[in-house]
Amino acid sequence: MPILRLIGLSAGRQPWRSLPRAVLLICLGLTVLAVAAWRFGRLDKAAAAPTTAELVEASRRLSPEDRPEWLRITRGLLSAESVQQIAAPVEPINNRGEATRVELGYLLFFDPIISGDRTTSCASCHHPDYGMADGLPRGVGLGGHGYGSQRAGTGRQLTRNTPSVFNSAFNVLQFWDGRAGTLEEQALIPIFAEDEMNQTSVADLLRRLRAIPRYRELFASAFGYQSKADGSEITLSNITRAIAAFERKLNIVETAYDRYVRGDDTQLTTDQLRGMVVFFGQGQCAVCHIPPHFHDGVLASTGVPVTIEKGAPLDNDPGFGAVIRRRDAFGQFKTPGLRNVSRTAPYMHNGIFPTLEEIVEFYNDGGGRGRGIEVISQDSKVEKLNLSVQQKADLVSFLKSLDNLEPPPVVPAAVPSGLPPVGR
Ligand code: HEC
Ligand code: HEC
Repeated sequence: MPILRLIGLSAGRQPWRSLPRAVLLICLGLTVLAVAAWRFGRLDKAAAAPTTAELVEASRRLSPEDRPEWLRITRGLLSAESVQQIAAPVEPINNRGEATRVELGYLLFFDPIISGDRTTSCASCHHPDYGMADGLPRGVGLGGHGYGSQRAGTGRQLTRNTPSVFNSAFNVLQFWDGRAGTLEEQALIPIFAEDEMNQTSVADLLRRLRAIPRYRELFASAFGYQSKADGSEITLSNITRAIAAFERKLNIVETAYDRYVRGDDTQLTTDQLRGMVVFFGQGQCAVCHIPPHFHDGVLASTGVPVTIEKGAPLDNDPGFGAVIRRRDAFGQFKTPGLRNVSRTAPYMHNGIFPTLEEIVEFYNDGGGRGRGIEVISQDSKVEKLNLSVQQKADLVSFLKSLDNLEPPPVVPAAVPSGLPPVGR
């Protein structure tokens, strides 16, 4: 009985005396087995799931037309990068997105009564025909007429490009320089900005809205816990809550890319599959433009110049540097989300890039610094990329897979003030 002897149990001895030794040995044996199984499991998984770097390396040997292999590589990338499906945004506890608030916010968004001279609504600059932006390099504010790019040259020239309000619910920070946090806080700013909607008096704004019976009813049903339509619920904070509740419903969640992530292989063209590999791989785009929102919630400097010509100096907008009053943050801007990006040209905080092709060239050059500009704050991840002509074109194709497949919101036929919806 060598085994019995080994563990100290043998006939003739009193077995209970050696019991502790036996238990110890069995425990030891089990531990060794568990560790071995764990190590093996890890090795096994590592063999089954290649890393991003390995997948990108493997893609270099592929023929551009080998669709099954490009599918395999991109599926591998999605799991290597633990890419999540997009989910609904979180609604704050004090503004739960009740249908009555969303409807009220929708009407306020399109109603020019909010602006000082009753000509401009939020939709003058954030219009459904322009991807909820305006299609202009920089916004046109006070005195402007029309909406979207029709406003060009009609009013005061703003300093920055108008971002889309689609998916603003997913922003960690609002504005190019991140100076606002919540949508409720953000909505106050354009209403009272002298060069935008130029509303000069809170009292006057509330008086105007309280004089309209339809608004008294709408505010009462959205906010009145006793539902008296006496206008007492028409307050500044309820105005911003309603607008924010509406904005939180403007989410782009249905794109070819999302359908692909959910498992439908037919949604992306082979060009787009190759472009996705550039996006995660050599292009390094996903380091900052992280799916599912295609931003990282923070700010960075890419060294955007003042004009698109090579040799142009750095743009003089301090961005986040002025918000936190630090020189090393000069020129930092919020990483914008890229959903629907092909519909919101021109690009960057100063709107100098008219096309996605030109943006890709800029990154391929290594951003501002790569173009020879001295940029103190440029992020180290923006560096020369050496992309081929094909890779650049594929990257642009991939960005187009982020286009919204659902119709944008409809402009209301009428707004409670009786003024022309959107404004004039
Ligand atoms: C005159 C044009 C104009 C009007 C009117 C206007 N906006 Fe904007 N909006 C802009 C510009 C320009 C910016 C970017 C400013 C900046 O980053 O400094 C912006 C930024 C925003 C952002 C931040 C988006 C992001 O990704 O950071 C939101 C949200 C927004 N506006 C909502 C509204 C709402 C709500 C209204 C109406 C109350 C409104 N805007 C009225 C031009 C306008
Ligand atoms: C270091 C982080 C970082 C990396 C890496 C990066 N971006 Fe960006 N991206 C930004 C920031 C920040 C902005 C805004 C810069 C500004 O306006 O000054 C931006 C702006 C953009 C815009 C303009 C969007 C708009 O609405 O105006 C596009 C398109 C874009 N990036 C695509 C890409 C692509 C494609 C890559 C990879 C080749 C990439 N980015 C790599 C941070 C990054």
